[in-house]
Amino acid sequence: MHRTANLLVVDADQGRTTIHRNLYGHFAEHLGRGIYEGIWVGEDSPIPNVGGIRSDVVAALREVRPPVLRWPGGCFADEYHWRDGIGPRENRPAMVNTHWGGVVENNHFGTHEFFALCAQLGAQPYICGNLGSGTVREMQEWVEYCTYAGPSPLAQLRRQHGRDEPWLLPYFGIGNENMGCGGMMRPEYYADEYRRYQTYVRPLSGNQVAKIACGPNGPNYEWTDVLMRRAGDLMDGLTLHYYAMPPWGEWKGHATTFTEDEYFETLRRALVMDELIRRHRTIMDRYDPQQRVALIVDEWGTWWEPTPGMNPDFLFQQNTMRDALVAALTLNIFHQHCDRVRMANLAQTVNVLQAMILTDGPRLVRTPTFHVFEMFKGHQDALQLPARLETANYTRGRCSIPALSASASLQSGRILLSVVHTGLEQDQRLEVRLRGARVKSAVGRILHGASVMAHNTFDRPEEVKPAEFSGFQVETGRLYLDLPPAAVATVELVT
Ligand code: AHR
Repeated sequence: MHRTANLLVVDADQGRTTIHRNLYGHFAEHLGRGIYEGIWVGEDSPIPNVGGIRSDVVAALREVRPPVLRWPGGCFADEYHWRDGIGPRENRPAMVNTHWGGVVENNHFGTHEFFALCAQLGAQPYICGNLGSGTVREMQEWVEYCTYAGPSPLAQLRRQHGRDEPWLLPYFGIGNENMGCGGMMRPEYYADEYRRYQTYVRPLSGNQVAKIACGPNGPNYEWTDVLMRRAGDLMDGLTLHYYAMPPWGEWKGHATTFTEDEYFETLRRALVMDELIRRHRTIMDRYDPQQRVALIVDEWGTWWEPTPGMNPDFLFQQNTMRDALVAALTLNIFHQHCDRVRMANLAQTVNVLQAMILTDGPRLVRTPTFHVFEMFKGHQDALQLPARLETANYTRGRCSIPALSASASLQSGRILLSVVHTGLEQDQRLEVRLRGARVKSAVGRILHGASVMAHNTFDRPEEVKPAEFSGFQVETGRLYLDLPPAAVATVELVT
C-alpha cells in the first residue's frame, strides 16, 4: 500500500469541454529583436530563409504546433499604419518605434510578410488594429485589403503587390491596452470607440472575422464591467493581459539569478492568473451567460529586468526552469477555464520577454518554456477532463502555494496528464485515480534542470530539455508518480 500526500482524481468519462488549440497561441510585436533578426532576416541574408523569414525559427516553432499568432503589437499596434508596410520594400517609409527604444522601423515586415509567416508556421493570423492613433477608415481598409475577393481598389492594390486571392483573417483586435499605451482612454470612451470601429470590421467575401475588444490589464474589473455592459453584444472576444511580475515601477528581478523568495513570489504571481480569470469571467457571465464572448489572454508571461549589455527597451531576457514552471502552471490554469478562455498568446515568440526561442546571428536555442509548449501540445483540441487535486503546500514564511498543479485531457483514447511540482525541497508523490477507467500503462516525459536557474545558452543549447520519465508505477489501475522538485512532467495513459 502506498502512502501519498497528494491525490488526483480524474473523471475520465466526464469530459465536456474542448481545450481550444488557441490556448497555445503566440504573440510577436515589432519590439527589439523579436521580428527583425528573430523572424525576419530578409531574402538576401546568409541565414537560410524562405522569402526573408528565417527557416530555423519556423522549423523550431512548428515543433510546438503554433495555432495562432498575434501581430503587430502590443503598444506598437496603436502606432502602426499598415499602408507603410506594403509594396516594394525599398519604397516603404520608415518610422520611429517610439515605444520600444526609439529605433527606426523600416517596415520591411508588413502585412504580406505576416501572412507568409503564418502560412509557414501553419498558424492562424490574429491582427491587432490601430484604434489609438489610426482612423476608422484605415482599419476598414486593412480588413478589406486582406479579405476582399472582388475587384475593389484595395483588393486590386493587394493583387498589384503580388497576392491575388484574399487571405483568411479569422481574428481582428480593435486596439491594444487602450487604457494605457493605446490612447489612455476611460472604459466608457473606449467602449464607444469600440462600437464605432467594429462596425467597419466587416465579414467580406465569406471571411468570418472574430472581433476582439481590448479588455482589462490584470485586476481592472471596472473595465470588464463597462465593456461588457456597453459593447458585449458587439464583440466575439475580450482580452486580458497579465504578466507574472511586480507592480509597474518596482524591481523586477534578474532572469537567471534569484533567491528562493523571488522564485516563490514569481510562482505565486503566476497563480494569480486563476483568480483574475475567475473574477473577470464572473463579470462576463452577468452580461453573457451563454459564454458567447471568449476571454482571450493575449499577453501573458514573465518580465524580468533588462539583460545587462542589451538595449533595455528591447526586453530581451533569458529563460530558466522558473519560466518553464510559470508556463506550465499557467497552461494548467487555462485548461480549467477552457469553456470561457478560448485563446491565449504568450509574450513574445522570439527574443522578447518569455520567448520560446532566442537567437544570436545564425544561432538559435529553444528555451525551457519552448519545451513546456512542446510537451503539452497533446492537450490542444483534446477533451478537458474534470480533475480534483488534493495537494501538499509549498510554504515560505506565512505564504503558501500548492506544491502540485495538474491537468488532464483525453484525445484519441489516450489521457494526457500534465503535472507541475513547484517545491524545491523533497520529491512529491502523487496518486492518480481515474473514475470510469483504469490505467493499464503509461509513458512519461520530464523537464527539470540542475537547479531552477538552469537555462539554455548558445554554447549549451541542451542544458534543459525533456527526458524520458520513469518515476512512476502503475498498480491496480492507478498511477503513482514521484516528482522531483521544480519539475514539469507529462504522462500519457493507456486505459
Ligand atoms: O509585451 C510588451 C508590452 O506589454 C506590450 O506592447 C503591451 O501591450 C504590454 O503592456
